[in-house]
Amino acid sequence: MKRRVAFHAVDTHVKDGMRVGLGTGSTAVWAIRRIGEHMREGRLSGIVGVATSFASEMEAHRLGIPVRSLNDPEIGGEVDLAIDGADEVDPALHLVKGGGGALFREKLVAYNARRFVVVVEECKLVPHIGTGFPIPVEVVPEARACVLKALEALGAEWTIRHGSGKQGPVVTDNGNLLVDVRFPSPVDPEEMEIRLGLIPGVYETGFFTRIRPTVCVGLPSGEVRTL
Ligand code: 5RP
Repeated sequence: MKRRVAFHAVDTHVKDGMRVGLGTGSTAVWAIRRIGEHMREGRLSGIVGVATSFASEMEAHRLGIPVRSLNDPEIGGEVDLAIDGADEVDPALHLVKGGGGALFREKLVAYNARRFVVVVEECKLVPHIGTGFPIPVEVVPEARACVLKALEALGAEWTIRHGSGKQGPVVTDNGNLLVDVRFPSPVDPEEMEIRLGLIPGVYETGFFTRIRPTVCVGLPSGEVRTL
């Protein structure tokens, strides 16, 4: 289903010559692979990718998709389209992202995309975000204690994300920590994105509320519904 919905998004929305934001995760990777397949078989040309993580950059390199920085003059700080997954989607199409830890670059690319297409399975649709799947908050290590205190003052429960086994805390592509935050009762996601972003030491959060995405939902029947 992940592959089907990602292929649908690419086949519907990616056109020759586009600057395309390449998302991160087990669904978005299929979009990168589909773009690579179309380029290899001559169905798409002139595509330039902007990666949202080291992982998506490596996958694009493997497939021969040219990758540039958002700062490259050829990109000019904006992509035509970004395709990415999400951890939760509410009825207003607010998102939680960052389950894979790539939230900073994902948000930078999504918020600077002319069009943002989200690819999810139906199980990601929820009535409220923030109470189920934890909101990832990327925190500058030096600010850890201060940020945790500020989160508690907002009524949030938190855990510092650790790797599996005896590995220490997860370190992001930007050298920061990830704190997974849950609110015991529903919060206003738009307000909370702003409030969390104002805490000194918060590098980025997984609330994506200030863009209006097109959401492609893979249904158990195999069909794709667009919201
Ligand atoms: C990574 C992300 C992913 O897009 C999100 O976690 C969904 O991943 P998947 O498609 O593997 O369920 O935000 O930081």
